Amino acid sequence: MSEIRFDGRVAIVTGAGGGLGREYALDLAKRGAKVVVNDLGGAVDGSGASRSAADTVVDEIRASGGEAVANYDSVSTMAGGKNVVQTAVDAFGKVDILINNAGILRDKSFLKMTEEDWDQVMAVHLKGAFCVTQPAAAVMKANNYGKIILTASTSGIYGNFGQANYGAAKMAQVGFMNVLKLELGKYNIRVNTVAPNADSRMTKGVFPEQLAQKMHPKFNVPMVVYLCSEESQETGMIFAMSSGWFARTGVVSGEGVCIGDTVRDVTAEEVRDQIEKIKNLDKARPFPNAMEVYSLSAPLLG
Ligand code: NAI
Repeated sequence: MSEIRFDGRVAIVTGAGGGLGREYALDLAKRGAKVVVNDLGGAVDGSGASRSAADTVVDEIRASGGEAVANYDSVSTMAGGKNVVQTAVDAFGKVDILINNAGILRDKSFLKMTEEDWDQVMAVHLKGAFCVTQPAAAVMKANNYGKIILTASTSGIYGNFGQANYGAAKMAQVGFMNVLKLELGKYNIRVNTVAPNADSRMTKGVFPEQLAQKMHPKFNVPMVVYLCSEESQETGMIFAMSSGWFARTGVVSGEGVCIGDTVRDVTAEEVRDQIEKIKNLDKARPFPNAMEVYSLSAPLLG
């Protein structure tokens, strides 16, 4: 079995001062990548800042013979995002891999959620992905090579109580990816989304102790590292994972039902009468872009 290596490759991992990001950074460095360890070093709710989170991981990588530099910027501003990328360019000359992993939580039931809870979560997860990915993609385009990972969550893909802000920000990664995979594909840049699951400080107390012990963050690493490898040509995929389980998940469309003839009115009663068929996902499938899904309406168009 050939080993996956990253010799000569430069990776940025955001939020790599702990949890999942630290595991991604350590494994990439072990496999030869030069790594920018970005972390603001704040609390789970995004408050505060400290250099020690990123520094500790950089020390760990160097102690085991790897190459890494720290960056302490917040991903949630354009200036921060540009500086994260500039750190990679200054230290190592380029960016081949970007893992957008930084994240915070501000859980509240929806009717109690404040504007600040909403804005802060959007700022780190959604705007943060934009702020780092845009400058990184410009460098990748110049080198005609890039692997970008976005981090979603089953909280957004399927739903989770108390996380309206987080679920919305996480599902938005999928929309972001779907456009980037099309726009950046011609520059040999591949974009994928992962929905990890792990016992980290972010999920402390969520899982019973016995279960948490089986959910080490390291079990999310293999998928991310494979997607970042040169041999992977995957793009536009969403992968869910937990404890060594890996599965593609996705946005699909069912076959649907064609009603009318594109001239006469279509009524709500006709929709009501066919709603079970309209909801049916037996032959559901994903589509490569927005236009292709309308091929399902072809019988109406002649
Ligand atoms: P974590 O709290 O251990 O790690 C997140 C890191 O991001 C922290 O080190 C934090 O300092 C850093 N960070 C926060 N805001 C930042 C900012 N503005 N700029 C730079 N760094 C910032 O949490 P964990 O579990 O490792 O989460 C990593 C990613 O995985 C997050 O995006 C999270 O939403 C996502 N995720 C985690 C799941 C889990 O079960 N742990 C489930 C689904 C998604």
